[in-house]
Amino acid sequence: MSESNKVAIITGDARGIGKGIARVFVKNGINVVMAGKDLKKLENTIKDIKLSDVEVYPVKADVAVPANVESLFDKTIEKFGKVDILVNNAGTAEPSGGKMADPITDFDHKVMDEGVNVNYKSVFYCSQRAAKEMKAKKKGVILNIASVDGLVSTPGTVYGPMKAAVIHFTKVLSRELATVPIRVNCICPGLVLKDTPDRLTDHEKDLLKFIPMHRALEPEDIGNLAYFLASDETKWITGSVVTVDEGITADGGWFAFGL
Ligand SMILES: NC(=O)c1ccc[n+]([C@@H]2O[C@H](COP(=O)([O-])OP(=O)(O)OC[C@H]3O[C@@H](n4cnc5c(N)ncnc54)[C@H](O)[C@@H]3O)[C@@H](O)[C@H]2O)c1
Repeated sequence: MSESNKVAIITGDARGIGKGIARVFVKNGINVVMAGKDLKKLENTIKDIKLSDVEVYPVKADVAVPANVESLFDKTIEKFGKVDILVNNAGTAEPSGGKMADPITDFDHKVMDEGVNVNYKSVFYCSQRAAKEMKAKKKGVILNIASVDGLVSTPGTVYGPMKAAVIHFTKVLSRELATVPIRVNCICPGLVLKDTPDRLTDHEKDLLKFIPMHRALEPEDIGNLAYFLASDETKWITGSVVTVDEGITADGGWFAFGL
């Protein structure tokens, strides 16, 4: 299965899951536009994952800002002439200045706005522009990275609900764009290892014993599924929500752990 000559935009991909997806795409011949807030970090990531026969192109963009999204797509079209795949990966459970698990009575509005902007609005803005480009080519794939927290209730009244919104957005948009065809699917990861030396916080390490497979995922595990769903091998899959979650949701979700 070769997807060479395709062009993918991956948002928020200087590290973590985005970097893992980029690594798998590049290995399989897909040219990647890496969109993130810090150009230097993107350039360092590219040194890590670049292979000689594909292009990896960094674009500085805060994808929660519509003007940045326009410029990201303009630069991509200028360089490659098309966008075959959009991966809406940028998102965070911990926006600056506060925690997403704070009780609603303490929840800071600035943190709420940031959580809504990056976890939901960025997905809308990027998908909107991608749909325009893909409609012109009569083909495309949009992949949204949500979370198991969008499927089961975990503490925090913004992150999980925004991920649930992304899941529902996937279904609604997949119907709207089905006849083009532009396929729209969603991946819900469980617990994924970070790029930091520790890889898991102490709290996350404690959770491992409750996870049915007793392990956390490598970012490339999400990359492999993203590659499959982006490939022509899955040309009839649209509107799907696929978990890669070490059995977390099969076991009743985090809620079963008393979270
Ligand atoms: N790590 C997990 O265990 C896990 C589990 C389920 C879902 N997810 C989801 O997967 C996605 C990636 O998570 P991660 O753990 O790799 O996160 P991360 O924080 O390690 O990396 C996210 C990247 O996105 C960038 N980013 C954040 N806001 C941005 C914006 N507005 N514009 C452009 N770039 C932006 C950050 O700078 C960072 O490079 C997120 O949507 C997250 O909610 C993560």
